[in-house]
Amino acid sequence: MRVLITGATGLIGKALVEKFFSAGVKVNFLTTKKSKIHSIKGASGFYWSPARKILDLKCFDGIDSIIHLAGSRISKPWTKSNKKDILSSRIDSTHLLFSSLKNNMESYNIKNIVSASAIGIYPSEFDKVQTEKTNSTSNSFMERVVVAWEKEIENFSSLNIPVAKIRIGLVLSFSGGVLKTLKIPTSLGMGTFFGDGSQGQPWIHIKDLVEIFFKACNDNWDGIFNAVAPNPVSQEKLVKTLAKALKSPFFLPSFPKYLLKILIGEMSHLVLDSHWISSQKVKDKGFNFKYENIELAMKDLVKKSNP
Ligand SMILES: NC(=O)c1ccc[n+]([C@@H]2O[C@H](COP(=O)([O-])OP(=O)(O)OC[C@H]3O[C@@H](n4cnc5c(N)ncnc54)[C@H](OP(=O)(O)O)[C@@H]3O)[C@@H](O)[C@H]2O)c1
Repeated sequence: MRVLITGATGLIGKALVEKFFSAGVKVNFLTTKKSKIHSIKGASGFYWSPARKILDLKCFDGIDSIIHLAGSRISKPWTKSNKKDILSSRIDSTHLLFSSLKNNMESYNIKNIVSASAIGIYPSEFDKVQTEKTNSTSNSFMERVVVAWEKEIENFSSLNIPVAKIRIGLVLSFSGGVLKTLKIPTSLGMGTFFGDGSQGQPWIHIKDLVEIFFKACNDNWDGIFNAVAPNPVSQEKLVKTLAKALKSPFFLPSFPKYLLKILIGEMSHLVLDSHWISSQKVKDKGFNFKYENIELAMKDLVKKSNP
């Protein structure tokens, strides 16, 4: 078996490549940086530029499945040009993959596509648990990005292959993402939360996320799936659990909502919005989470980072 991964050089991609290697699966990947073509030992790298509509078609040779993760970071400041990049990196890359395949589908034997999506598609809700059936509203920038991204991904269905859209929650790993950023200040007793901290924070241990992608690929999942741990927690609980796992004190007051809005404006939605998201559909597909609760997940991550 051979898979093609976009965004393979990122946080989730790197962990997924390791999983495929350990299962004896061969990996092709697409990268926007020519300097990274040989960066993953044992995998074959190919260059693409979604903005300039350039893609090396050889990347599809012998491919059984496509895993689509590419997209520029949402954590960079939301300037006009960065917002454009956050949206266009996802739309252009998905569109280029689709149009390249559509014109050449008979030349390949691609069985399915598994694509990243995000729980940012859900409206902010403080009380309600949301499922894959919840309607999106396009009220916030993140919602608009993910709605447009999923619409583009949906085009793959016209190729008559299963298309799985994996709505990912906050990925817990010390190799990158939010936890890596929080680790040093929290270790120094500088951990805090925003507003009253009651906002729901769906999270997932990176190992469980990788297993979900692996299963979705092997079992030909079709449709939308929330990739979040079964027990989401409030933001206050998340940061306090991190401090406890790091054996660090937690004494700072919360960071006021109004100040955050003054400092980072619209981007404050990323930490002030609340999502309580169900993982029932993934469980119904036979997926067993290894890290169901936050204490267990944080303990494991801290242990792995301090062997
Ligand atoms: N990490 C999370 O907590 C989380 C949560 C929800 C959703 N997601 C989504 O899951 C996907 C993977 O997340 P991640 O954390 O692994 O992200 P990441 O570490 O930032 O990696 C994303 C990869 O996308 C590629 N990329 C960057 N800019 C691009 C552009 N303009 N055009 C095409 N490709 C570009 C890069 O690969 P090259 O440099 O090799 O091209 C990069 O390695 C993302 O789409 C992200 O939005 C992540």
